[in-house]
Amino acid sequence: MELSNRMIRSASHEGLADDRGRPTTEQFDFYEGFIRGGIGLIITGYAGIMQSGKSALYHMTMIDSDELIPSHRALVNRIHQIGGKIVLQIAHCGRQTWSKETGEPLMAPSRIPCGFYRETPKEMSEADIRIVIEGFAEAARRAKQAGYDGVQIHGAHGYLLFSFLSRHSNKRMDRWGGSLDNRFRIVGEILKAVREMVGKDYPVLIKLNTYERAPLGMKPEECVQITSMVEETDCCDGIELSCGTNEGGFVMTRGKFPTSAIFNYMRPYCNYHPIIKLLLKAFVVPFVKVVQPSFAEGYNLETAAKVKQAVSLPVITVGGMRSKAVMESAIESGKTDFISMARPLILEPDLANKFKTGASEKALCDNCNECVVATDTRPIQCYKKELLH
Ligand SMILES: Cc1cc2nc3c(=O)[nH]c(=O)nc-3n(C[C@H](O)[C@H](O)[C@H](O)COP(=O)(O)O)c2cc1C
Repeated sequence: MELSNRMIRSASHEGLADDRGRPTTEQFDFYEGFIRGGIGLIITGYAGIMQSGKSALYHMTMIDSDELIPSHRALVNRIHQIGGKIVLQIAHCGRQTWSKETGEPLMAPSRIPCGFYRETPKEMSEADIRIVIEGFAEAARRAKQAGYDGVQIHGAHGYLLFSFLSRHSNKRMDRWGGSLDNRFRIVGEILKAVREMVGKDYPVLIKLNTYERAPLGMKPEECVQITSMVEETDCCDGIELSCGTNEGGFVMTRGKFPTSAIFNYMRPYCNYHPIIKLLLKAFVVPFVKVVQPSFAEGYNLETAAKVKQAVSLPVITVGGMRSKAVMESAIESGKTDFISMARPLILEPDLANKFKTGASEKALCDNCNECVVATDTRPIQCYKKELLH
């Protein structure tokens, strides 16, 4: 895959699909803005590979049935017509969703609820694991048939595949748990099944975490080992590095703690009685805020540099990429091959063009994090449009 530049739109759940998970005209318009704005590649928000893996967030895109291919194809055609490139991110949400949204029991390596969703998942049987492996391969086939330029397997952020990789959520004693080789097994098998399905020339990427904040959670050293294991499968063409999980708080998206947005838009908090909200704001939020990591530009770059030493696959780094100087230096110094962004592009889809013409040296996004929490109950948008003026 040849890109026009090294700036990528990182997957960001849009909440713009219809009730069945088909991409809509609004979604097409939204994506078109990134291409017209000069970005080298769009990675879509996550698309569900099967109903049991459906997100609890507002209106997830789905890719779990052949009947959805024509809607995806229409989207891809529109991006290709204007010279853009687009990769579909495929995901299973695992224990980071609710069964009332999936209509099926939650799937996870072990019966440990996610600290945010608080619903006990089913410990997956051998048959469940096989179904998920096939589900990823089938989703990749559909993506290829729809014309996407590649797929990205979501192995980050606490979703199903990450929950297998992490000792915090995977307590299995069989061949899918325990040693790192065993915890990696499902990811390796999915990469192989996807590769077999789409052929050797079709781009297959994976998104992984540099770390998670949790007891026994993934550490940077383990991330580096995992990226080597990905490379050894010989079934992957690129690795994107992010961090954090839902129960870990604002680790993935560092910046401000969006108190008001949480109580306005995010379940279950937005449904609480006003008095409970007041009490929580007064007595609980101040403590929660203290443990949130602070924002620093390019917060996954340090681990990315170590990954670059360990593998020869192209590395994409996301997380706090804001100024042109930091991005250029990260690429020139060999810490990463590409940079990707989520929050900044919601406000400025034309950031790449602005960098190119010199109209901007730094993204205007102030990391308020309202966009992240609001996608629980409404479509994606920036809540700080005034920053543009
Ligand atoms: C609104 C929103 C939705 C997101 N949805 C996804 C997603 O669907 N898949 C994914 O891998 N990451 C998702 N992310 C995480 C981003 O891809 C990225 O890893 C993270 O926001 C850090 O990058 P940033 O500092 O450029 O925002 C989302 C982030 C935001 C802000």
